[in-house]
Amino acid sequence: MQALEAILTRVTVPPARMAAPGPGEAALRRMLAAAAAAPDHGKLRPWRFLVVRGGGRERLGDLFAAGVQAARPDTSPAEIEKQRAAPLRAPVILIAISRADPNHPKIPLWEQEASAACAVQNLLLAAHAMGFAGKWASGGPAAAQAVCTGLGLAPNERIIGIIYLGSPMDRQSLPPRPAPEAIAESWP
Ligand SMILES: Cc1cc2nc3c(=O)[nH]c(=O)nc-3n(C[C@H](O)[C@H](O)[C@H](O)COP(=O)(O)O)c2cc1C
Repeated sequence: MQALEAILTRVTVPPARMAAPGPGEAALRRMLAAAAAAPDHGKLRPWRFLVVRGGGRERLGDLFAAGVQAARPDTSPAEIEKQRAAPLRAPVILIAISRADPNHPKIPLWEQEASAACAVQNLLLAAHAMGFAGKWASGGPAAAQAVCTGLGLAPNERIIGIIYLGSPMDRQSLPPRPAPEAIAESWP
């Protein structure tokens, strides 16, 4: 797929519409290489990924369940079980982690986080270009301290995405996008 076509046809696929197979080793390496090509002011590489598949998804689900319960003790049992089952919906999950240095003398925090977001988008575009389905999610588990601790995040790290990857079960229709004139204007 050509780059522009991949950008213009990428669409989020809900994990419920994903099936096996997920990306194998070679495809994952290609996606990560795309992530590593993100613009990165100062070459700080302020992002990293954890790859979760197979039985690791069950352990991730247990972490999600424990994390949302600890963060909000009034979470309903149904919601906790939903979080436990969430990672099982897709064959491969990547945890996208921003590892920004808030005290960097030259590169502000927002630039480092912007670079991390670019890495995730590059990865999703590569997945789509190779025929895989992807979804960038966050939600309660990404913000839960127990999830971050359980995944071994350092104090300067945060989860910026729970990236679900699989094979699309069907073709998703493209959502309407803003027209160019709605997002840009001539100046002066
Ligand atoms: C940082 C970030 C976090 C997101 N978290 C969620 C999420 O937790 N749940 C969700 O349904 N969509 C989430 N989204 C939105 C979807 O990834 C997706 O962009 C949106 O559904 C629009 O679909 P599209 O990508 O096909 O335009 C998130 C997007 C970003 C950039």
